[in-house]
Amino acid sequence: MGDRFSIASLTTARTTQLIAKHFLTTFTLIFNPTKATKEYSMLLKQRQSKKAIQSTSKIFQCPEVLGAQHSVPLLDGSYVQQIFLDNAARTKPFRVVSDFIQQIEPYYSNIHRGTGFDSIFCTERYEEARHIVGDFVGWDCERDVVIPVRNTTEGMNLLANTISFAPGDRVLTTILEHHSSDLPWRSKAKVEHLPVNSQGQIDLQELERRLDPSKGRVRVVSMTGASNITGSVLPIHEIATLAHKYGALMVVDGAQLVPHRQVRMRPHSDAGHIDFLVFSGHKMNCPTGVGAVVGRRDIFAAAAPYQTGGGTISTVTVDSVTWAAPPDRNEAGTPNIMGLLALARTIQVLESVGMDAIDAHERELTALLLEKLNRIPQVKILGSSDPEAVEKRVGAVSFTVEGVPHGLVAAVLSYEWGIAVRNGTFCAQPLMKHLLNTNEDFICGSKSDNATSSSGNSSGAVRASLGLHNTEQDIETLVKAVTCIAQKQWKGNYEQDAATGEYLPGNFRFDFSLLPGFSTDPMIHCPASTPTRERRLPLIDRLPLITAGGIGALVTTFWACFR
Ligand SMILES: Cc1ncc(COP(=O)(O)O)c(C=O)c1O
Repeated sequence: MGDRFSIASLTTARTTQLIAKHFLTTFTLIFNPTKATKEYSMLLKQRQSKKAIQSTSKIFQCPEVLGAQHSVPLLDGSYVQQIFLDNAARTKPFRVVSDFIQQIEPYYSNIHRGTGFDSIFCTERYEEARHIVGDFVGWDCERDVVIPVRNTTEGMNLLANTISFAPGDRVLTTILEHHSSDLPWRSKAKVEHLPVNSQGQIDLQELERRLDPSKGRVRVVSMTGASNITGSVLPIHEIATLAHKYGALMVVDGAQLVPHRQVRMRPHSDAGHIDFLVFSGHKMNCPTGVGAVVGRRDIFAAAAPYQTGGGTISTVTVDSVTWAAPPDRNEAGTPNIMGLLALARTIQVLESVGMDAIDAHERELTALLLEKLNRIPQVKILGSSDPEAVEKRVGAVSFTVEGVPHGLVAAVLSYEWGIAVRNGTFCAQPLMKHLLNTNEDFICGSKSDNATSSSGNSSGAVRASLGLHNTEQDIETLVKAVTCIAQKQWKGNYEQDAATGEYLPGNFRFDFSLLPGFSTDPMIHCPASTPTRERRLPLIDRLPLITAGGIGALVTTFWACFR
């Protein structure tokens, strides 16, 4: 399966392209040293010792992740390799996937409708990609469909607008949910949020009590596979077994689970089967703009499409329409062809590394991070902080630092350590209220969102979230940085921006103009158009035409002279 997308002819072209690129870079370095030294890569201050890199790679071989360690500037004018710990928000793409997109781009064409070579090629690749995505999560290709979506948010909205609800129906979910997996249900049914304990886990007995049909039918149990804040992993198959016992459908938000663990939907005959699984490519080292809903064909077939238009129909008259069968019914308009192909390629890379190997690597790093953060007295981890219990969580670790607003912690990490994290309430405000034990209303992106509240609780947190490219050295540096911050050691003079609530270091701003490939000159982005090649026939094929033209010209001349 691994080589299904490899095309021999493209490989040769790519090799030539790479050699040319290499020569060009060498040429620039030799003949234009000023420009080259300006580039960030040349200003790099090595952060990792060779020993650290080697020791990690011996344990876990990570495929190249683009930009995971490029150099970034610091407040003091130096440059370091960035430590990217914002993987729960989005991950950086694999180089293989980026190269693959470039290889396939010239063949890019619309699918299912064209008769040209490229169109047939893309249609085949697209349907193949659909199967790769489904296989990755253990679908039943007869009874399930894979519907490409933009992201998990769109996937959850698709489901909320596809599953039929009767008046009085209930949806059971948890307080752990991301807004994207909570809000779409609210206009469809009565949504109930199960509480979680200090480890970020729900009580299964409480779930069963709530499933009692005497309180109204539970149509859907929709739960996150893993929390984007506490990292807690829910026992989705046990929950599904209970949901099915009471006739409810099981929907899993896999945004934070699918990238980190091997997820299987299980056969339909299994009580713990997942009816619908939703996830985003950009959280699993694929570029943004693509995700998938994998789930029950019969439920999609029973409902009118959420979005209508081209591609969704079987027949249309001016006053009637017959919908196509799923998945076509649910893919209105031209789909994100390149996106689905990239997602499938990403999955192939993940599979070649092995989801169990990724899981083991990330668990090890998560345990290390928890253990080290636990030793900083000012740090409070949200949810489970037990390094021994990492099988019940993924590597999204959120924490507060006593006496330092989370926005300031994140700013110092970025401007003074080159560490990328996220801070705030992470699109899960009900959970943050619960974890921070506050009644405060958060206002996203506002000053209060970044401040320390009057109750002494920070109204948000800092999140370090691990990806497969992270190393022990990354954890060591983060912990060192947080230790300094907890002791109020930073160099910058940070002020809070009144409009955004962000902490900014005096007058210092990042200068993006030195980024390689970046220019404000529009001509660099829009190279002069090359003349389109004429459709010219070979000379031999043009001879009859030339002869006829010549004879015509002679006849016309004679006629004009001698008439
Ligand atoms: C658990 C969870 N669900 C859903 C989402 C929404 O994902 P997307 O932004 O890709 O739609 C996120 C995003 O961070 C998430 O962490």
